[in-house]
Amino acid sequence: MILLGVNIDHCATLRQARYRQAVATAGGAIEPDPVTLAVLAERAGADGITVHLREDRRHIQERDVWRLRETIATRLNLEMACTPAMTAFALQLKPDSVCLVPENREEITTEGGLDVVANRDRVRAVVDAMNAADIKTSLFIDPNEPQIELAAQLAAPWVELHTGSYANAFHTSSRAKELQRLRLGCARAHDCGLTVNAGHGINYVNIAEVRTLPHLHELNIGHSIVSRALFAGIEEAVREMKTRMNA
Ligand code: PXP
Repeated sequence: MILLGVNIDHCATLRQARYRQAVATAGGAIEPDPVTLAVLAERAGADGITVHLREDRRHIQERDVWRLRETIATRLNLEMACTPAMTAFALQLKPDSVCLVPENREEITTEGGLDVVANRDRVRAVVDAMNAADIKTSLFIDPNEPQIELAAQLAAPWVELHTGSYANAFHTSSRAKELQRLRLGCARAHDCGLTVNAGHGINYVNIAEVRTLPHLHELNIGHSIVSRALFAGIEEAVREMKTRMNA
């Protein structure tokens, strides 16, 4: 069975669109509350909750992360940039896992995989610190052999293969090529002894193909589930995705 990590960043995006100046994130008229969304997602079968605490704090705030740490009953996966400040934060927070992602100020969402080859020493420092603290590290990388092999060499237990190029190519002639790239990436990562996760751009349609990738442990899905929740409610949105993932 493939597990589902629900990324709740875009619930906070909606809140920040109106309440950027507000410090409190619970109670009163300040909504929607991402922690409430997380609890309801868990109730509907989410296997973990993912948040990205970005340097510019554009959606999730530190207070949200601490409240999640105290509240959720499944696993907390903290997406973060590969920086000393975020490493210190994660060691204090003690999430169940961290996922190292590239972070560019201009991007609307995470646009490419982390270049582990170019950032080898920075990545190694974070992986070593997390391994010592018994926090699992996942590296969010493109499905390229050198990235995958180095992830294994650096002793990161997990990788999350970036499905964005495939999702973007879904309605083009490159779709089969992108799917095959992911297929080979999953197989290589598994051969290297890595636990294989995937995420970005997965929705209720492309999940029918994504779920056929080999060795998948967990999918991290955000935008499509939060969007579906606007109409169907978060519990129905999570239940439907889980059904489609494991049909
Ligand atoms: N995985 C990672 C590492 C991400 O940064 C994100 C958000 O950009 C996701 C998964 C979820 O992507 P989406 O919101 O497109 O489902």
